[in-house]
Amino acid sequence: MNQRALLHWVAERGIAYRESVAAARVTPSASPAALREALGGPLPESPANPLAVVHHLADTLEAGGLMGMASGRFFGFVIGGAVPAALGADWLVSAWDQNSGLFAPTPGTAIAEEIAGQWMLDLLGLPAGCSFAFVTGGQMANTTALAAARHHVLAQAGWNVETQGLIGAPALRILVSDEVHVTIPRGARLLGLGTDCLERVAVDANGAMRPDALEAALAARPDGPAIVCCQAGNINTGALDPVGALADVAHRHGAWLHVDGAVGLWVAAAGPDRIPGLDRADSWSTDAHKWLNVPYDCGITICRHTEPHRAAMTVTASYLVQAAPGTDRDPVDWNPEFSRRARGVPVYAALASLGRAGVVEMVERCCAHARRFAALLGAESGIAILNEVVLNQVLVRFLVPDGTDAEHDARTRAVIAAIQADGTCWLGSSVWRGQTVMRISVSNQATTDADVTASAAAILAAARIPFLPRATAR
Ligand SMILES: Cc1ncc(COP(=O)(O)O)c(C=O)c1O
Repeated sequence: MNQRALLHWVAERGIAYRESVAAARVTPSASPAALREALGGPLPESPANPLAVVHHLADTLEAGGLMGMASGRFFGFVIGGAVPAALGADWLVSAWDQNSGLFAPTPGTAIAEEIAGQWMLDLLGLPAGCSFAFVTGGQMANTTALAAARHHVLAQAGWNVETQGLIGAPALRILVSDEVHVTIPRGARLLGLGTDCLERVAVDANGAMRPDALEAALAARPDGPAIVCCQAGNINTGALDPVGALADVAHRHGAWLHVDGAVGLWVAAAGPDRIPGLDRADSWSTDAHKWLNVPYDCGITICRHTEPHRAAMTVTASYLVQAAPGTDRDPVDWNPEFSRRARGVPVYAALASLGRAGVVEMVERCCAHARRFAALLGAESGIAILNEVVLNQVLVRFLVPDGTDAEHDARTRAVIAAIQADGTCWLGSSVWRGQTVMRISVSNQATTDADVTASAAAILAAARIPFLPRATAR
């Protein structure tokens, strides 16, 4: 079997999958036992025909082992799709197999990433001189930004965390909103800061951090290094924190302001009024593999202060071919990874193919789909929309007439299970203000009006399941 024939076969198979996913059932149907049976067995002792291997993988996984995350009717978690140019570029990145930690050995990928980063700053209205890093996802984007912030605020207190570490360091506070995403505390754990230094700041009714509450928290302990983490796009409601007002408060107290924009930062492409004052923060993170519709995995860290970012990440070794500071851009100076995939190349392709207008249209269309879901479902008696739909997220609760909270929770879980079993679309659950909800996230550029119509009909059909007997629901 030659490589050409194998790659042709794979390309055809991948294309067929992409073409079929729009009409296919979304929910996986294969049992884990069947998948283990088909893929398992002892480690092969001798080589096998490569085409037979990938053929078997494709046949097995595509026979009900995959979730239709690429489908326009997948609304779970916050999962984007892939615009064609980004998917194609991603295939090429694998074919080229470049280790893209350094500039000199692979200038083509390094320059494509450099330009993708500059375009992204322009698109989001962020300062042109910011540093950036294409990392694996929102988790590493937040962690990288926190490392830069840690360096900066401790340096201001006279402490070099890169050489002195944290033992004996000035105590550092991280102020987060009550709605902080779990990747921020996890980043604090990974950086040795621990979660005890996190202080929660109150949010408004839709889950956005309140500047007056931040002011009170910072004023209560005015001295010492502090990092504030707000967010653009609450994982449940989609709420956008008032970044400009928070920046004013944070900077008045000498704190670093980080914006976790994994979910919603791309809405800033639609104009500076969408997240007022966004450009005044100190660092930002986002995911290209969510709303920019680039394949997994691709998160991005952006930093206003290039020196602490570089200081937190840079590394040298005698055998590396490194650029002199101020000349070419070595990703290893900005990324936590050493060897790495050129994951910024699909970002280049996405931005080049969509252009500014295309990104704005995609973002606005997803938001319009979310509002339509809220209108279609919210018009039904027995269904409540719990959030103000300000972005691409909708929180839905299925009610029992005169029911208790526990009964509404049980009914919501039952309806979600029925929707997942039906397979027309896929949505998951979450908890908002102590209440079980179904969460709709419209993040895939492939979603059409017809997808929303069909999915809303499937949701309404599932919502007609008989009410659970009270004894079971409690
Ligand atoms: C607000 C927020 N931050 C960070 C993350 C983590 O992103 P990733 O899953 O790409 O690591 C998520 C993921 O959903 C998120 O919603």
